[in-house]
Amino acid sequence: MNAGPVLLEAVELSVRFGGVAALSDVSFTVEEGEVVGLIGPNGAGKTTCIDALSGFQPLHGGHVRFAGEDLDLLAPHQRARKGFVRTFQSLDLFDDLTVRENLVVAVDTPTWRSTITDALWPKRHRHDGVDETIDLVGLGPIADRRPAELSNGERHRVSLGRALVSKPRLVLLDEPAAGLDPTESAELGRLLRSLPGRGVSILLVDHDMALVMEICDRLHVLDFGCLIASGAPAEVRADPAVVTAYLGTQPEPARADGTGPAESGEQA
Ligand SMILES: Nc1ncnc2c1ncn2[C@@H]1O[C@H](COP(=O)(O)OP(=O)(O)OP(=O)(O)O)[C@@H](O)[C@H]1O
Ligand SMILES: [Mg+2]
Repeated sequence: MNAGPVLLEAVELSVRFGGVAALSDVSFTVEEGEVVGLIGPNGAGKTTCIDALSGFQPLHGGHVRFAGEDLDLLAPHQRARKGFVRTFQSLDLFDDLTVRENLVVAVDTPTWRSTITDALWPKRHRHDGVDETIDLVGLGPIADRRPAELSNGERHRVSLGRALVSKPRLVLLDEPAAGLDPTESAELGRLLRSLPGRGVSILLVDHDMALVMEICDRLHVLDFGCLIASGAPAEVRADPAVVTAYLGTQPEPARADGTGPAESGEQA
């Protein structure tokens, strides 16, 4: 792990939907250079947490700090301009644009300043980084196709490309491996693991436990909106509270003859 100073601080985040406490006083950090997993069973509050961190979901309590700055009053696009971007569980691609165009429109939202500079120096920066990101995410052969023509794995790579094209400092990824086969997932893992070397830290939400355990430096675990464990993957995996959250009960101890209960699968 090559972690540096704290990049993201989630401080006592609370979100309620009517009577449902989707997040209750959740605090954790992501350090510069880390790949950090945010895991938990279905409905644990992972997407709500990403929504809250990225400014899509108002907080009932708590703060979000990024690179030492309080983000609470900033809209999602303002957070993105600071290098703090997210992907969506639903992927959110533009179906009538090609893959390349999906990346171009994700580079930046125009401001009055960029509109003036674009008028003075046409095409000065709108395509900066698009080709590089297309290569990085392996979208070259499908750059001129539309999302509807792509496989699920390819659509996920477009979504990741859209997040990376603005050269963020931190990406929040909501289930980038959903529906990928083991080969695609391993390929995604290698790509994600290479990102800190390019200056991109990661908060990863996924149910693919093989991926999460393989590439994350640390994990934070949510259950019913509460943070129940944090630590290195091996440590978290052995935590009784985490085992109970995933299995709904404590596993039976191994029997004296060495045989034990069946191992749970890797997909949580
Ligand atoms: N817009 C909403 N209105 C009401 N309740 C919501 C809303 N969004 C989420 N919830 C509830 O908040 C809780 C947390 O949901 P969330 O989608 O954050 O879970 P998750 O951990 O991302 O689950 P999954 O692994 O299935 O994606 C759940 O009980 C969910 O039903
Ligand atoms: Mg979710």
